[in-house]
Amino acid sequence: MSLPVSTRTITTPAKVNLCLEVLGRRDDGYHELATVFHAVGIYDTLHLAPEDQLVLAVEGEMTASEDNLVLRAGRALQPLAPGKGARIALSKTIPVGAGLGGGSSDAGAALVALSEFWNLRVSEDELTTMAGALGADVPVFLLDATAAVGTARGDVLTPLHGTPSLTLVIAVPPFSLPAKTGRIFSALRPGEFSDGARTADIARVLRRGKTPQAHHLWNGLFPAAKRAFADLGSYHSALCRLSGRVWTLSGAGPALFHLAADEEEAALVARSVASLPGTCLVVPSAPRFRCQHLD
Ligand code: C5P
Repeated sequence: MSLPVSTRTITTPAKVNLCLEVLGRRDDGYHELATVFHAVGIYDTLHLAPEDQLVLAVEGEMTASEDNLVLRAGRALQPLAPGKGARIALSKTIPVGAGLGGGSSDAGAALVALSEFWNLRVSEDELTTMAGALGADVPVFLLDATAAVGTARGDVLTPLHGTPSLTLVIAVPPFSLPAKTGRIFSALRPGEFSDGARTADIARVLRRGKTPQAHHLWNGLFPAAKRAFADLGSYHSALCRLSGRVWTLSGAGPALFHLAADEEEAALVARSVASLPGTCLVVPSAPRFRCQHLD
């Protein structure tokens, strides 16, 4: 059966933070960051169809709530689209609440897709402002780049052109924590702040088209995340012991990743940690953060 032309299907990727440094606290309740985001090939799918109202249905490991970022993205655009609605079916593959940016990616994709679906005249600057109001990690998902440095709240972005394609092994332990990101940031201790030099280093490596080494990977939220997730420290130790490799936290976690030399090494590493609970995925880079049309 062919779909009516008025429907749209788009895919939107996950991210890891190859490096995340917290520089200090800000007056607005946020923290000043220096981070390198990288788009990775785990994708959520959004299917848009005509409807009078804005409605959302979610398939996968979560349910659609009123504060879902996709609905909030739609509501942010609605003043520019009087009388328009859409039925959005969100199919989740990106693990939820893992530090892989799934909710932010869905929100960025919803802003891009709905502004096209409703034929809105909305500039990239306006979309970026709306994205930043939805969450500090949303604006990166508007970029046509595979990696970017994020400063300020993580939302002032510089694309890293030249970044090579990478192969990652991502382990997602079965831990969850309500209001995780805010709790982990507020558990930070001043000794865990750093100066942004690590971010500058890895950005230099990526701009030259080189693959980063294990010593370039860093996450300043890791000590606070281990205090917040009681079992994260022992899970991380088990990953390192079983694989003999270095694993780094993504975002506020609890997902951890290993940057593999190639697909063969990635498969070997994934097999070595297969006995641990949770999910382990071998994932290539995604070509860009911004969502792509399937039709
Ligand atoms: O922007 P987002 O809603 O994703 O952030 C959730 C919470 O994480 C914020 O309310 C804030 O407490 C914390 N945060 C922070 N500094 C950042 C990003 C997030 O303190 N750069």
